[in-house]
Amino acid sequence: MMDLKDEILRLKREKNAIILAHNYQLPDVQDVADFVGDSLGLSQQAANTRADVIVFCGVHFMAETASILCPDKKVLLPDLEAGCSLADTISAEELRRWKNEHPNAVVVGYVNTTAEVKAECDYCCTSSNAVNVVKSISKDREILFLPDMFLGSYVAEVTKRDNMLLWPGECHVHAGIRPSLVKEMLKNNKGSDFLIHPECGCTTSMMYYFGNGNGNGEKIIEDCKVKFLSTEGMMRYAKQSSSKKLIVATEIGILHRMRKENPDKEFIPLSNDAICKYMKMITLEKVYRSLNEMIYEVKVRKDIADKARVAIERMLAIN
Ligand code: 13P
Ligand code: SF4
Repeated sequence: MMDLKDEILRLKREKNAIILAHNYQLPDVQDVADFVGDSLGLSQQAANTRADVIVFCGVHFMAETASILCPDKKVLLPDLEAGCSLADTISAEELRRWKNEHPNAVVVGYVNTTAEVKAECDYCCTSSNAVNVVKSISKDREILFLPDMFLGSYVAEVTKRDNMLLWPGECHVHAGIRPSLVKEMLKNNKGSDFLIHPECGCTTSMMYYFGNGNGNGEKIIEDCKVKFLSTEGMMRYAKQSSSKKLIVATEIGILHRMRKENPDKEFIPLSNDAICKYMKMITLEKVYRSLNEMIYEVKVRKDIADKARVAIERMLAIN
């Protein structure tokens, strides 16, 4: 029987392809990837690769971002149905209407948006650089932040801005991680580290409820250290933490890499239900088919890509 992993590696060499995978991908898919990381790391890899073909194991907006950054490369998404419920919460038309109501505002769009929406933004951001992107904007300028309201309120709180207007969007996976669940886990896991993705539904109330922390971006609650981090920020933190037990509040795909890279530590998902069905649509079989048949190409229309690239490159320059 054909060994799928071997075949994928052979095809990858033959086609001069690179496989990029998000931290939420299935374990098998992560294991054949050349790079596994967060939205920011994946865009940086796409921007710098010498490969001719990028197989993007993630969701549609991520493949679009790679195509915008590398218009001359072939960007493949193994399943075109791999969308994002958060990106679907705002259309370019809705954003244009919002901008018309606030003509002097600066528009900051989370990378979880369609290319058409990015083309309407002044800056893009990911969860790992949203605070720095907002800090780079003059304090007296009004900001329209979209589409994630939990990430937006987290950024507004950290940067102490009261002129950020938030689009009421949310990711169904992270929004389900509610404050009551976190409080219960804090009580039951005293002394552990808690890593919370700022898209989580608990973020806003946890920030307000527990005040400003110890000045290192950390909060100590029930003897637990609580950190708000992007997925790659969580990976870095897990490695350097002296704690042996870490509770992880994000999509559970990240646990594969965490456990693999830190075999001496225990990682517990805050919610076993935090599963993104879109991320899980990318299987090893589909990655093989994608490389073998060169499907499905994601290409962004040139006029849209040219506008969206400005916002993405401004973000990459800030890091
Ligand atoms: P990051 O990996 O950038 O933290 O984003 C999380 C996410 O929801 C991707 O869809
Ligand atoms: Fe979109 Fe949420 Fe899935 Fe991330 S986890 S891809 S934000 S639906």
